[in-house]
Amino acid sequence: MTTARAAIVLAAGQGVRMRSSTPKVLHKVGGRAMADWTIAAAQALGCSPIVVVAGAHTPEVAAHAAAALGPKAVAIQDPPLGTAHAVLAAAPALRDFQGDAVVLYADTPLVRPQTLEAMFEARAGADIVVLGFEAAAPTGYGRLILESGALARIVEEKDASAQERAVTLCNSGMLVGDAQTLLALLAKVGCDNAKGEYYLTDVIALARAAGLRAGVVMGAEAEMLGVNARAQLAQAEAAFQARARAAALEAGVTLIDPSTVYFSHDTALAPDVTVEPHVVFGPGVRVAEGARIRAFSHLEGAEVGAHASVGPFARLRPGARLGAKVKIGNFVEVKNATFGEAAQASHLAYVGDAEIGARANIAAGVITCNYDGFHKHRTVIGPEAFIGSDTALVAPVRVGARAYTASGSVITEDVPDGALALARSRQSVKPGWSERFRAAREARAVKDKP
Ligand code: UD1
Ligand code: CA
Repeated sequence: MTTARAAIVLAAGQGVRMRSSTPKVLHKVGGRAMADWTIAAAQALGCSPIVVVAGAHTPEVAAHAAAALGPKAVAIQDPPLGTAHAVLAAAPALRDFQGDAVVLYADTPLVRPQTLEAMFEARAGADIVVLGFEAAAPTGYGRLILESGALARIVEEKDASAQERAVTLCNSGMLVGDAQTLLALLAKVGCDNAKGEYYLTDVIALARAAGLRAGVVMGAEAEMLGVNARAQLAQAEAAFQARARAAALEAGVTLIDPSTVYFSHDTALAPDVTVEPHVVFGPGVRVAEGARIRAFSHLEGAEVGAHASVGPFARLRPGARLGAKVKIGNFVEVKNATFGEAAQASHLAYVGDAEIGARANIAAGVITCNYDGFHKHRTVIGPEAFIGSDTALVAPVRVGARAYTASGSVITEDVPDGALALARSRQSVKPGWSERFRAAREARAVKDKP
């Protein structure tokens, strides 16, 4: 029988070192809140329940967790008195739970589920398993103190002796143990230390004193980065980007200059996609095989079909859905609009709240006038229609299949299939006007001279 798994996600710290009006754990890495990275890792491990411990001072965190996991998944720690105290705040939610619990931090977004999985596996040989790492710069982390090869206790930086500070084996903060055993041990933790806080790390010495076994699983330092200040947030972002770029290359995507392409946590690029330099993928982008995303383009909430071409300098906003072989050229913005197969908008256009039929052509300077200051309205363009340069499409409006609109038209009424719509004033030409005008102006200039 496999052991049930619960997760306790600590997210109630003050986060003062961020100097932000946004709670620390809601700051984003790869376009996803740090708390959501941790929740996703817990879900990948099959944890149920997942309890998020939030502070009373950050109702946004509680609301965020409740939206993701339901109201029962939130425990409030008020006031926050340390990491042991935080885990105990989850005790009521775990009263009837039998199985292992993993303690995770909502400020540690880079840890991989497979690394955490190793802790559960190591439970076979230990009652409590801590995730540790060798730190190049251990300052600020708790140190794992071994005695005759076994983990004896964890000492926080502020409470450590000079000798203990020299230890580079550090505490990630994450640990696994039998849920009820862990909670019973934590009830005994005191706050007689440098910070006057209830330290989760004290559980190791307490476990050893109770005759239980403590073990360490090692992880890579890069995964353990705890974000306490903006510099570490930037470091975490850089680490995520490096990981995403490597994964894209591995999956068969061509990145001409990987270091200039920015990914989100859910960017999905198919094999044989080519991404030119300086492209930003916001959240929710999918690109199908063989498509090319050209330089300096910005995509968010968009779908790009097979062998489509986007950019250079294109912007795809949420709800942009491009079919196969669509071409979106420079300085074209697309929002909440569908382009059928091989439709194109090659230059300088705004297409919003629209449906563009297959093989339709949107010429330069075309604008869908979708917003009247109160509501958004739709524009529907039929297959193979030709929307002439500088056409303003005043929505709601439809242009039929294979219809044309003349350049410079302001289209306010539907255009039937196959028709031409002209909606501009007729040109008038006055022969010889220029010479008459110039002569009159020059005569006046001579007369006015002092
Ligand atoms: C903690 C560990 C340290 C470890 C380091 C790894 C303790 C005492 N120390 O230190 O050994 O090396 O993480 O990054 O555990 N939190 C609460 N309630 C509280 C206090 C904190 O929910 O009362 C949450 C925070 O939101 C955060 C996490 O617990 O997600 C860690 O708290 P933080 O104050 O950042 O601990 P560190 O000093 O980094
Ligand atoms: Ca921390």
